[in-house]
Amino acid sequence: MSETPKPTNPEVPTPDTNKYEGLRNPALHPTDVEIRNSPDVLAMHQQIIREMSEPKDGVAPTPVWLLMFFFALIGWGGYYIAQHGGGFRADVYNENPAVLYRQAGGTADAAKPVDLMAVGKRTFNNCTQCHQVNGAGIPGAFPPLDGAERVSGPPHVLAAILLHGLHGPIQVKGQTFNGDMPAWGQLSDEEIAGVITYVRASWSNKAPEVSPALVKAMRTQTAAQAGPWTGAALDALAKEPPPAIESEAAPVTEAKTN
Ligand code: HEC
Repeated sequence: MSETPKPTNPEVPTPDTNKYEGLRNPALHPTDVEIRNSPDVLAMHQQIIREMSEPKDGVAPTPVWLLMFFFALIGWGGYYIAQHGGGFRADVYNENPAVLYRQAGGTADAAKPVDLMAVGKRTFNNCTQCHQVNGAGIPGAFPPLDGAERVSGPPHVLAAILLHGLHGPIQVKGQTFNGDMPAWGQLSDEEIAGVITYVRASWSNKAPEVSPALVKAMRTQTAAQAGPWTGAALDALAKEPPPAIESEAAPVTEAKTN
């Protein structure tokens, strides 16, 4: 019995025929079989190309723009130093040019005077951790220097505080402080005079400057002072006349011992 041929109904697709086959572009979407049989090397390597590239060996050259940037930076640095470096002159960099003038055979009188405010502003960096940059101190811990009575009072008392420190209760602007102010005797006379001058003329303070000679005289006069002062000792000291300054009279030898 012969089989009757299947009726071919154009409406019904035969089972192994893809309805969309005619729409596929084999060049863009090849089937795996097509790829394997294709002589197209590129298509064959698509899977490999898709992966990340192999890391390269060797050194990549520095980008030119980066090199130019560094050259510009170095050039600018050189220009800046040339403009603002003060020619590396010792009398620019040494805050006490009098020493240099003396070394050069000149007299101290001919020297450029020490700028006490400049020296003092720098020396005040030692004080800001406690008394703060604005001189306001910290309530209950460090007394304010701004507006403090003693700061604008007799300068030889301030020199004494800086040289030997201060300990125990004191009154500042109506508040009691009971702490320890370290001694700064290791600083030079110019630095101590500078920092006193600075705190007396900064913020709302308007007291006159203090000379290194006064600090020097005070250093000699209080040489026997072993520890820090007390508030009472400073009050007593404030009533005494300031020490005579070197050039005016014989050196003062009387020592304070409290
Ligand atoms: C470690 C903290 C500290 C540093 C740093 C410090 N002081 Fe003081 N200072 C104090 C304390 C605390 C007192 C109060 C001492 C007391 O209560 O007896 C004081 C007191 C003073 C007083 C007396 C104030 C008054 O009205 O009687 C002066 C002036 C002063 N300091 C100046 C300075 C200067 C200038 C420097 C920097 C060279 C300095 N202090 C650095 C803690 C400090």
